[in-house]
Amino acid sequence: MKALVFGSLNIDKVYSLNHLPEKGETLSCAGYEIHVGGKGLNQSVSLSNSGADVYMAGQIGSDGIFLKEYLEKSGVNTSLIKITDDFSGHAVIEVDPDGQNQMILFPGANREITPDYCDSVLENFSAGDLILMQYETSQVEYMIEKAHEKGLVVALNPSPYVDKLKEIDYSKIDYLILNESEGQSISGETDNDKVVKVLCSKLGNGAVIFTLGGSGAIFSDGKETVKAPAFMVNAVDTTGAGDTFTGYVLNSLMNGKSPSQALRFASAASAIAVTKPGAAETIPTLEQVNKFLADNK
Ligand code: RIB
Repeated sequence: MKALVFGSLNIDKVYSLNHLPEKGETLSCAGYEIHVGGKGLNQSVSLSNSGADVYMAGQIGSDGIFLKEYLEKSGVNTSLIKITDDFSGHAVIEVDPDGQNQMILFPGANREITPDYCDSVLENFSAGDLILMQYETSQVEYMIEKAHEKGLVVALNPSPYVDKLKEIDYSKIDYLILNESEGQSISGETDNDKVVKVLCSKLGNGAVIFTLGGSGAIFSDGKETVKAPAFMVNAVDTTGAGDTFTGYVLNSLMNGKSPSQALRFASAASAIAVTKPGAAETIPTLEQVNKFLADNK
């Protein structure tokens, strides 16, 4: 099984602040760093670190070549990434001392993807391969349609949430991985069990993986529902925690792990990730996750 991540690559500009700014407030920051990022890039690294054979497809400008190089160093096949005349996407990320963040996203080349490019990417994959997408690029609905038609296992992390996500055809999605606010917005419910029920009915045969931050995660395919607690750690920066979880949970499920094993494994990976600043660079290796689990029985 090959895994294709069709998604965003961003330059993350991270500003450390004493608190997140109020409306109209000017703040001087305590630190500034540039990191590799983008939900697509982060999830590619997570899948690769968890042991999958990963290809990433997406677009960058010439200012983002270091993003591609980072993926190569992480064992991800980058031959499908297109370099365009646009600026690469970037994120302005503000982080407070508790590790909470807020972000501004400039989509850049991520939003210039065309159906022709999607078709050329899909030629390299066949039935049974995994495709994982987020919502930071253009052509996501087109790719869901075409990948499903070809028999790929379709996974969607509907992030960041946009109103259009209320209307897309979820029956073509095999795995929907999303957080509390995304789940509530898409389902129109606020109670977690009801959110999961509504999402399962939208998916048909697929499964929902609903992440609740410090309160753990829920897996449900409509027949079996499993809940797993989160590991308690001191969070320094939660950026990319969801991406870490997504890669690890999907690779575990695709490799036949039970839903409860997959949730535990992914929770351990994201618990390790939040203890360091940054996104992709904080995603642990398989060995680190196994050691963490052995130490936290
Ligand atoms: O999920 C975290 C990511 O969201 C960051 O790396 C940033 O680039 C945005 O895409």
